[in-house]
Amino acid sequence: MGKFKYSLPRGTHDIYPGADGWEHDSIRWNVLEEIWRDVCRIYGYHEIRTPMFESTDLFKRSIGDGTDIVNKEMYTFEDLGGRSLTLRPEGTAGVLRAYLDTSLYARGGVTKLYYINEHFRYERPAAGRYRQHVQFGVEALGTDDPAIDAEVIQMMLAFYRRAGVTRFTIKVNSVGSTESRAAYVAALKEFVAPYLSEFSEEGKARFEGNPLRMLDTKNERELAILANAPKLTEYLLDDERSHFDAVCGYLADAGLSYEVDPYLVRGFDYYTKTAFEVQSPDLGAQNALGGGGRYNKLVEDLGGPPTPGIGFGMGVERVLIALQQLGVDMPLPPGPTAFVVTLGDSAKKAGIKLLSDLRAAGIAAEIEYGGRSMKAQMRSANDSKAKYALILGEDEVAAGTVQVKNMVDSTQEAVAIGEIVGRLS
Ligand code: HAM
Repeated sequence: MGKFKYSLPRGTHDIYPGADGWEHDSIRWNVLEEIWRDVCRIYGYHEIRTPMFESTDLFKRSIGDGTDIVNKEMYTFEDLGGRSLTLRPEGTAGVLRAYLDTSLYARGGVTKLYYINEHFRYERPAAGRYRQHVQFGVEALGTDDPAIDAEVIQMMLAFYRRAGVTRFTIKVNSVGSTESRAAYVAALKEFVAPYLSEFSEEGKARFEGNPLRMLDTKNERELAILANAPKLTEYLLDDERSHFDAVCGYLADAGLSYEVDPYLVRGFDYYTKTAFEVQSPDLGAQNALGGGGRYNKLVEDLGGPPTPGIGFGMGVERVLIALQQLGVDMPLPPGPTAFVVTLGDSAKKAGIKLLSDLRAAGIAAEIEYGGRSMKAQMRSANDSKAKYALILGEDEVAAGTVQVKNMVDSTQEAVAIGEIVGRLS
């Protein structure tokens, strides 16, 4: 409960300048957004923005009826026109809907899109797990070339490295196709059946409803049993096998150390072939920094032409938590160039004119409103990390000058007021 009448909805958070927890600090968010947009520029991805809500059916169809997200976590509501809508729990479905709706698909070739999206999931809040979170993500549509699988994985890592995340593990797997999965699921169920009584209620429910997700357990007993279970990679069809080998080859060529994890299954039904996740040892229980994979049937499932695709999403809150844990020295933006300090009415008038001239010339300049003492204004100038304090008293106004104080070395000189903009440009 907050101190005042209304408090933050459970599982959400505010992002504001200078917050102690880095995942709440808007200044650090802006730094990451700039890095992200630059990485997207370097890799040739363009931004797509889609609505925060879509028809409920789109998510059911894409993510899958048997998944936790669809069954337990969606913010679904009926609008005043009686439509069932859902706040997007993830980004892929909406991007693909837009790819078809806007006829982007008709341009042919490979379409490479990126986004910065809020997502909404009714999950149990925990460190690094919010009910509204932001992902930086991409979707690359129109090719099954394994080289692009490696490209998106490298792109993710390029972002983490530039942001300063130095510790992570990369896990990759192939989750095959509907056909190979059907054969695998049958074998997995046959293997598990004799042990089913030792499984948790959740494990039993997954056995019935979504058997692949049994592999995603954290239950020690279940893990011990599953250690001897057949592996999905043993059931891949030839084309899936060679695709996966090629992806691993490209990753090795790029000098990445990755781990093939045959138990990696992600919480969406749309994945085919490559699936991957980047995990951080600095995040505690919610250790997934980001994840993604290929979805070669999804565009078709949504009514479009057969179009292979691949993408990923990375949790921005989690990147910031990891960076704070790692004690990374983030490159924060500098303070203003100038901070105008005035004493007396005519100096204030001259100071405000100077402030607006500086800003018109594109120079970041600040002033403190409220008529506090010169000492208090100088303290604010210092706190703002301004390079120069521009000090104006009655004497300076009379002489047409400004005292320019260098805040780094504390030197000070009188400069004609008309020369200030030129000096600071
Ligand atoms: P996801 O694995 O569900 O994938 O989410 C991607 C990342 O978002 C996670 O690895 C995690 O860092 C972050 N994340 C997820 N849920 C939360 C939460 N409740 N609180 C904080 N962070 C969270 C997807 O959503 C797929 N759409 C990714 C994708 C794109 N696959 C193909 N294209």
